[in-house]
Amino acid sequence: MRQAPVRRHGTSRSERDRWRATYERTPYRSLPWFDEGPSPHVELAVRERVLSPPSSVLDIGCGAGSNVLFLARSGFAAHGIDLAPKAVATARRRAEEEGLTVHVQEGDALTLPFPDQTLDGAVDNGCFHTIPIPRRRHYAREVARVLRPDGVFLLGWIGRETTTVEGPPHRPSLREVTTSLEPHFVFLRTWINEQPLRGPGPSENPWTMYYAYLRRRKGKQPPPR
Ligand SMILES: C[S@@+](CC[C@H](N)C(=O)[O-])C[C@H]1O[C@@H](n2cnc3c(N)ncnc32)[C@H](O)[C@@H]1O
Repeated sequence: MRQAPVRRHGTSRSERDRWRATYERTPYRSLPWFDEGPSPHVELAVRERVLSPPSSVLDIGCGAGSNVLFLARSGFAAHGIDLAPKAVATARRRAEEEGLTVHVQEGDALTLPFPDQTLDGAVDNGCFHTIPIPRRRHYAREVARVLRPDGVFLLGWIGRETTTVEGPPHRPSLREVTTSLEPHFVFLRTWINEQPLRGPGPSENPWTMYYAYLRRRKGKQPPPR
């Protein structure tokens, strides 16, 4: 019997427009999440050789490209995707200014423009927590699809404890994150970091960032005993 084609639903038009407008309205250096350097979990993973060059790593929701640039500088085949055209253009321009080779393109985390099992690693700093709650399992499946067996995924998200107005409307608990990701990934390590809100803004409150190192499962998650 012929199987029905798998339908892959991407991000809604309104959500795309919202991210496009965010980068068109605000200079990237003024966005509250922007940092010139790499995110703490990405920097640490490279230092600890959780990911080693010259492997291929994709930054999902790469924004202005600070992690992509850091990965390229560190010897990785550095890829990035983002919904916002201006974020993509900025990441490319910054790489060019530094003479770095990067592969940054417009793309959707929910329909990643990569064939199955082609990447060694993926990183995400602040994209997962913006994905609508009902789509997060789909996001996890999609990241697992493009990673090689044993591929590493480094995730950073804003936790519930953060009470600032800035940041995503829904801040996932650790439990919600594991519910979405555990079917496809083994958690190797999680930790919390309180870091000051960067960029201009009235808030001095820290953002409570959660970080995780994950490894793609080779098979299905074993059922409970
Ligand atoms: C909080 S920002 C973080 C940007 C960047 N990772 C950083 O640390 O500077 C979230 C980013 O995810 C992008 N984004 C949101 N939803 C996305 C999706 N479905 N696919 C790809 N990018 C997405 C946004 O355009 C934005 O650049």
